[in-house]
Amino acid sequence: MENSTRKILVTSALPYANGSIHIGHLVEYIQTDIWVRFQKLRGHECYYVCADDAHGTPIMLRAQKEGIEPEQLVAKFNVEHQADFADFAIEFDNYYSTHSDENKYFSQLIYQRLTEGGHIERRTISQFYDPVEKMFLPDRFIRGECPKCSAKDQYGDSCEVCGKTYNPTELKNPTSAISGAKPIEKESEHLFINLSNFESMLKDWINSGTVQNSIKHKLNEWFEAGLQSWDISRDAPYFGFEIPGEKDKYFYVWLDAPIGYIASFKNLCERKNLNFDEFWQANSKTELYHFIGKDIVYFHSLFWPAMLTGSGFRKPTSVFVHGFLTVDGKKMSKSRGTFINARTYLNHLNPEYLRYYFAAKLNQGVEDVDLNLEDFCQRVNSDLVGKVVNIASRCAGFISKRFNGKLADNLPNQELYQQFINAGVTIATMYEQREYNKTVREIMSLADQANQYIDEHKPWVIAKQDGQEQELQAVCTQGLNLFQILMAYLSPILPVMTKQVEKFLQTTLIWQPKPLLNHTIQQFKPLMKRVEAKQVAAMIADSTESLTANTPSKSADSIKEIISYDDFAKVDLRIARIIKAEYVEGAQKLLCLTLDIGEEKPRNVFAGIKDAYEPEQLVNRLTVMVANLAPRKMRFGLSEGMVLAAGPGKKDLFILSPDTGAQPGMRVK
Ligand code: 2FM
Ligand code: ZN
Repeated sequence: MENSTRKILVTSALPYANGSIHIGHLVEYIQTDIWVRFQKLRGHECYYVCADDAHGTPIMLRAQKEGIEPEQLVAKFNVEHQADFADFAIEFDNYYSTHSDENKYFSQLIYQRLTEGGHIERRTISQFYDPVEKMFLPDRFIRGECPKCSAKDQYGDSCEVCGKTYNPTELKNPTSAISGAKPIEKESEHLFINLSNFESMLKDWINSGTVQNSIKHKLNEWFEAGLQSWDISRDAPYFGFEIPGEKDKYFYVWLDAPIGYIASFKNLCERKNLNFDEFWQANSKTELYHFIGKDIVYFHSLFWPAMLTGSGFRKPTSVFVHGFLTVDGKKMSKSRGTFINARTYLNHLNPEYLRYYFAAKLNQGVEDVDLNLEDFCQRVNSDLVGKVVNIASRCAGFISKRFNGKLADNLPNQELYQQFINAGVTIATMYEQREYNKTVREIMSLADQANQYIDEHKPWVIAKQDGQEQELQAVCTQGLNLFQILMAYLSPILPVMTKQVEKFLQTTLIWQPKPLLNHTIQQFKPLMKRVEAKQVAAMIADSTESLTANTPSKSADSIKEIISYDDFAKVDLRIARIIKAEYVEGAQKLLCLTLDIGEEKPRNVFAGIKDAYEPEQLVNRLTVMVANLAPRKMRFGLSEGMVLAAGPGKKDLFILSPDTGAQPGMRVK
């Protein structure tokens, strides 16, 4: 397979057109871009397409708020996104928008074919409606009190405090987040794709190696729970494509978003005269891969293949799922300054540092990727500057000064050169399998060998000895040729530095290059500067938003009703040691904590702090718990108390810690 040219179409998820690109997004774009560059370097015909995800209520409302048309908002973000991507050297073959003629055409075509195939059903549903704004409200635009724990200001779908999920109509005192009005319930007819028509196809597809194993297991769980029909219509007002033959009905943004992959590619085909059908017809022999985050698996592994099959198009070859980004072990947070926009990063740091660091951390799994800022500086400095660039800088000066830029006409150690070339087979397999962390490890071990060669031959010593000119030129030629191979292997990760190296070595880097002999190179210029901790600190400072500025409604929570001392005394607060912290399967916000409060049996408590902490950060910490709260039976098990935390919620939630000296079981008075 490796010898013949493959035809490959690759996509990354389409970013929404109402927000800036941040470093969390970049995990995926960098991961995809490396893979695509690798495929192209290996001589395959590979196209990378993407687009802005332009439709939906949030985009419509944001435009309204800014007093502009949604089209203007979308155009503005398209320019910003493209500039951010370009500056991170993410090279799309086409970057488009889902608000395009091509996308309208394909959305309507797919819908029409699904209708003809008997896959669309109609049902009347009742939803919250804002009587002031005269619009149906998506769950995220309804706020109210949790039906379970009465926490205020919760979203319409789940409680951030106790983790309960519910229907918006179950909220107490619901209000519209748009107008503040009390929503009313209103009926309307919706259109659904009947997913169960595709159940056996989906099962076969999912179980035939199209997704990673852990994702396959998750999908099989969803099958067991039963496939629900998927609501693909939204009522006006909505920013999207109108549904043909319906009055005031629009396609839900998630229907036309993945079709945007097809539309973007179609646009590329028109510009480049490529054969569109060859890539999208039902029996296509080409390869199609979608890189996505773990939060949108349902859309890409159930809805999308069903839509494609039901409308006579091919299915993806694979869906490559990755995890989220954490920074220093925690979810990105505006108050901690770790919610870093692409542009803020670029204002302080070289984009290739991040490309390299992400590559060094990424594998084919779906676990989260951690950007540890200290490790980031350390790795970039020791690997890229200290190992790779160092090889060139130790050899190039002698070639320029003593040999007028000319390399020797043979290699003193051909075996070592060949060994580096041979390593390309393993390195290629690792790239192909998206095991970039292994790729990087392998390349760095070659860099160590190259440095070792130079250490052993000491060109700086030979340079001082008479009559050793030939030896000096040969050793430096060997070093620079090993450097050439290393840079070829690194080029999918470091495309900008690759360009500089090509200029310096006066060559085009190919996967497994021939040695440069009797060849004139240019004077060496430093290829990469060391990262300074103060640059990172400045970037964090630039990204830090004060909590009060950011969340006025929450931080200005008014004091609750006055209670008597007796009421207060009823609450038994205890110091607790967290002896275990675990994720809770199926829970979006909860961690399960096992707490020692000096009793014989530890307590189990479900706490809504998953967005703020990784479980391992909590183990062994002391905190404060309400020990006499009536046990609550939750969907996931029994919760035997509550731990205390402060902050507006989500990532910005801080569990309380006692002063030193406190011991598990002590009463808090
Ligand atoms: O989750 C998101 O950010 C979506 N905008 C991704 C869409 S991917 C594709 F289906 F369009
Ligand atoms: Zn609640």
